Amino acid sequence: MNPGAGVELETAENPLRRGSVTLRAADPCTFVVFGASGDLAHRKLLPALLQLSRERLLHPKTAVVGFARREMTDDQFRSEIGAAARERGVPDAEWRRFAEHLFYCAGVFESGKDYAALRSFLDELEKKRGAPPNRIYYMAVPPSALPAIFGNLEANGLARPQGGAWTRVIVEKPFGRDLASARELNAKIHECFEERQVFRIDHYLGKETVQNILVLRLANGIFEPLWNNRYVDHVQITVAETIGVEGRAGYYEQAGVLRDMLQNHMLQLLTLTAMEPPARFEADSIRDEKAKVLRSMEPLKPEEVARSTVRGQYAAGSVAGDPVGSYQEEPGVAPGSATETFLAVRLEIDNWRWAGTPFYLRSGKRLAKRSTEIAIVYRRPPYPLFRSMGYEEPIESNVLRLRIQPDEGTSFSFGAKAPGWAMRLQPVRMDFDYLTSFGAEPPEAYERLLLDCNLGDSTLFAREDEVELAWERVDAIASAWQKTGQPPLLSYPSGSFGPKEADELLARDGRRWLRV
Ligand code: BG6
Repeated sequence: MNPGAGVELETAENPLRRGSVTLRAADPCTFVVFGASGDLAHRKLLPALLQLSRERLLHPKTAVVGFARREMTDDQFRSEIGAAARERGVPDAEWRRFAEHLFYCAGVFESGKDYAALRSFLDELEKKRGAPPNRIYYMAVPPSALPAIFGNLEANGLARPQGGAWTRVIVEKPFGRDLASARELNAKIHECFEERQVFRIDHYLGKETVQNILVLRLANGIFEPLWNNRYVDHVQITVAETIGVEGRAGYYEQAGVLRDMLQNHMLQLLTLTAMEPPARFEADSIRDEKAKVLRSMEPLKPEEVARSTVRGQYAAGSVAGDPVGSYQEEPGVAPGSATETFLAVRLEIDNWRWAGTPFYLRSGKRLAKRSTEIAIVYRRPPYPLFRSMGYEEPIESNVLRLRIQPDEGTSFSFGAKAPGWAMRLQPVRMDFDYLTSFGAEPPEAYERLLLDCNLGDSTLFAREDEVELAWERVDAIASAWQKTGQPPLLSYPSGSFGPKEADELLARDGRRWLRV
């Protein structure tokens, strides 16, 4: 993170946010959105750019150019995005201000001549707007389209920076579908871009609460000394969703929760939680430490996969009182599909800080509640002292919970004496809540990430080695499942917390999942 990269723009007037200063001034640049007519561009990317424009965080000479197969004029492109913006309640004046930055160029990803046309389009647009050719190519496309796009960008001189300007590329997840394809993709990208130009997005890293993991650990005297196997019994990371596959079966059938969530979001949460303090708060120092965590986590052997993972698929049930169908009934899901929508896994990080302190991770769709959190569960104190006073119940562990979403915040639970004559301990909680403390919801992850890319700050993006190390660990699980069929794919009712075998995974170690 590089706060020195910009100038001070504003100090928030809200007294609750006193001291929160925006230190970023964006460079003029052109965002070229590949796959501009697709779902991701419409749901996340363009709304994030619009919001940045509303907050006056984009340079006035910013342009956003949609590049996709469908023939459309600039105005048609604008009106498609405008309709959705109005539905979200964006005031008309704000929308019109943003619309002036929007342009569209139709093209086929595989067609070399369309890139020559794109090049002239961009050159002309930048000339007209008096903007330097700083460019961000945003790949909101399926991974299979990437090799052709990179080849064509290179062949048409679009990848190389011109004059003193810069070019960068943002690549969406999934970054490949296994180690071999991720390596191939990295090699292909590096034929035209250097690593410092490549921004592999994992939107979890843009979440304010995920950035707070390091701040909580390292900006407070009391946590870091207790952040190790001497004091921490185990760590639980839960990413629970209530939604199903939401019409994305075409993609999800190939991914499953293993590739959709563990390879990226969940391992990012794990590495940020487990890493050593970096020497400096900057991209490579932080990413070096995250990569070391993955290196200390040996890929699981097939017999460990059978013992240490639980996989499931949702059956019909009800979520928040509404009946919902099974995964097998989702449109686009193959009959008899063996794709997992739930995963629980026990991982060990074999280094001085964490050896002997397991990390339990679980994620699933159609679970009982939406909640992403990291729970640091501390060792229990010895308790003969309390027993001698007639207190026979087990003493609860202290738990530090980092609530990533929703209800963003942090809480710490500890035991207190319940008032009364008898010695009775009761867990109580100290709570920090973003909304109450800062008077504002944290900003959308994509806004932060787009601005960081514009500023050339890759701290919150995954580096080549991180992505490959993560795939190596995920591949070990995928191939053991495929070869041995163990553990079997279990069914769980929608609206539950996954198969009961996920509880047994912890029960075998004398532990249990915390309620989220
Ligand atoms: C995406 C996955 O990366 O993250 C989705 O492809 C998942 O399947 C989503 O639902 C979760 O993101 P968030 O920000 O809603 O937790």
